[in-house]
Amino acid sequence: MGSYHIKGGRKLSGEVTVSGAKNSVLPILAASVITKGENIFRRCPEISDVDSMTRILDALGCHITREGSVLSVDASFLSECRIPDELMKEMRSSVFLAGSLLARCGEAVITSPGGCDIGRRPIDLHLRGLMKMGAEVFCREGYIELRARSLRGADIRLDYPSVGATENLMLAALAAKGITRIRNSAREPEIEDLQKYINRCGGKVRGAGTDTIEIEGGRSLTGCEHSITGDRIEAGTYLLMTLATGGDVLLKGLERSTLDPLVSLLEEGGYHVGYSRDEIWAAAKGDERMRCSVATAPYPGFSTDLQPQLAAFLTSVGKGSSIEENIFENRFGYTKELKKMGADIEISEKKVIIKNNNILCGADVRAGDLRGGAALVIAGLMAEGDTVIRNTKYIKRGYGKLEDKIRLLGGDIREYEK
Ligand code: EPZ
Repeated sequence: MGSYHIKGGRKLSGEVTVSGAKNSVLPILAASVITKGENIFRRCPEISDVDSMTRILDALGCHITREGSVLSVDASFLSECRIPDELMKEMRSSVFLAGSLLARCGEAVITSPGGCDIGRRPIDLHLRGLMKMGAEVFCREGYIELRARSLRGADIRLDYPSVGATENLMLAALAAKGITRIRNSAREPEIEDLQKYINRCGGKVRGAGTDTIEIEGGRSLTGCEHSITGDRIEAGTYLLMTLATGGDVLLKGLERSTLDPLVSLLEEGGYHVGYSRDEIWAAAKGDERMRCSVATAPYPGFSTDLQPQLAAFLTSVGKGSSIEENIFENRFGYTKELKKMGADIEISEKKVIIKNNNILCGADVRAGDLRGGAALVIAGLMAEGDTVIRNTKYIKRGYGKLEDKIRLLGGDIREYEK
């Protein structure tokens, strides 16, 4: 398990071009299974979750080639419908393949999905929707087998706007006879990117970004070229990282509106923030103090994927602030590590509360999940002294070229094997 060694206390300043979004490229790669012919994906992030997904596609018989951030996938010769369970466990997003394999092969075998330790993360909404479209679901000793002689269009109302369930059902609906409507669908920008990709392949999907998505099934899909949308969570992480050190940053390659909740929060806190069509610029004056009360919510609310990073940022400027986590029931693991660095924070029910503004001190800490790990990187960069962050494998799931980008901003970070 690798570790990052960070010398904190340096002001970060410069430019960051955000990579393609992890939470967009993963469902899009799953969708590529339903296409014939070559897909060329540009701005593909260089992260281990993409490596895991391409290993799964390779195991299913897809032809994969990669050059830097350009990934080619041809699923014309797909020969398998069963995902090797050692690959399935590597990340939660493999569950998207249930919908796409059902659409392509009429069957799919998955195991209960893996993913970060941030909550139970059931898939009941996925399975109920797929059954409504005619899939039969058999659960046996840890495997979930899905079969559908033919899928039929259905009118599905999600009990909760689940991102993954919305995307999985969109994929299965592509092979269903007739029209499928998904009501109370998630509205994340990554779902709009998935719709854009599917329609570019010849599909007919509309409504992504709203709470009702309509999919016309039975259309043949041909591989296409697609550039993955910018990663708003990576962008928000670098915004908080640079401002936490009292610095400034120009973020490129991001539709600004996808970060509005965080941008508004920072503006209210007195930080300079400016934006153009796909750039956000922010700078700290150095005397900012914030007392905010934030609650995570489905998009367009404040993203749960920025909750740990915001908490780390607030430990030195946000006395009296609180962040309520409403999406996952176990996403505060990072707080015990921040306390080792001197953060004066406490957890009360679903809230993390910043009790005082403390200057953090470097310490030896452990990442337990992707975004909690990102919070520790922010804390290490703003702390006085040296910080060692262990279990870098969690962080590398979702942040490509992290050390390069931080060093370009003037930060002192090195990765070691142990
Ligand atoms: C996606 O996860 C993202 N992952 C997550 O990002 C993100 O935090 C989450 O959406 C919420 O925005 C990808 O897109 C690959 P959900 P997903 O289904 O689809 C409950 C990151 O850090 N639920 O919207 O798993 C679930 O337990 C990751 O990049 C059910 O109860 O999230 C959770 O409490 C973390 N039954 C809530 O809904 C279901 O069938 C939201 O889950 C499905 C979900």
